[in-house]
Amino acid sequence: MITSASTPEQTQAAGAVPRHVAVIMDGNGRWAATHGKSRSDGHRAGSENLRRVIRAFGKRGVRYLTLYAFSTENWDRPDDEVRALFKILNDVIQSEVDELHREGVRLRHLGRLDRLSPTLRRAICRSIELTKDNSGMTVCVALDYGGRAEIVEAARSMIADDVKPEDVSEDLFRRYMYTNGMPDPDLIIRTSGEQRLSNFLIWQAAYAEYYFTPVYWPDFDEAEVAKALDVYASRHRRFGKV
Ligand code: IPE
Ligand code: IPE
Ligand code: MG
Repeated sequence: MITSASTPEQTQAAGAVPRHVAVIMDGNGRWAATHGKSRSDGHRAGSENLRRVIRAFGKRGVRYLTLYAFSTENWDRPDDEVRALFKILNDVIQSEVDELHREGVRLRHLGRLDRLSPTLRRAICRSIELTKDNSGMTVCVALDYGGRAEIVEAARSMIADDVKPEDVSEDLFRRYMYTNGMPDPDLIIRTSGEQRLSNFLIWQAAYAEYYFTPVYWPDFDEAEVAKALDVYASRHRRFGKV
């Protein structure tokens, strides 16, 4: 079993760079509406934004970046939108992975793979395998991800492994999560003005800092990345201490 990379939480003075940033990439549909375009055009524009945002966080020294691309609840959208989204995600993997690999990025997937098409599943597994030994930034794509499903799956796996009740601990739960081996997110960003988690990293977000911006995801550029990191740097994290 991989041991957790998390260290016990220490109070953090202002000025720090977050080790792990997680982003709820929201607002593609509203971005499209304001430009007189279709929702799938909005998703296409959102996917084209990934490249610059990944690099902008990397340049600022962020070591782990998690991107919420598709939630367990997003299956309830119209079939044609879901199909378009998966096509776009597949295209972005095809067009970006080799370059990310050259830059030393390690890719990970958070969520369920079993409900994805065999083609998309293969593309994801191939990109994880290709980049697994890289030592640069870790980029996690949360795709068919749900925080509650993750916790239920962890409990099921513990039972299947015959874990004894007295051995169930927070640290053990941590190791059964999709994020095993990674630090918890320090900063969670949500674009588009909504102020909710929408089932994202609900276990891991217990002590995250939150940053909400009205900017729609396709418009969230390098300057917006800098703003979010500057706000984070001004926060004083206490973790229950004084
Ligand atoms: C985020 O944009 C992308 C996904 C949830 C897949 P939305 O599609 O939710 O955009 P809005 O919220 O309708 O503007
Ligand atoms: C959250 O956005 C999921 C992703 C960004 C992938 P949604 O647009 O699905 O969230 P709600 O429905 O507004 O809560
Ligand atoms: Mg939305």
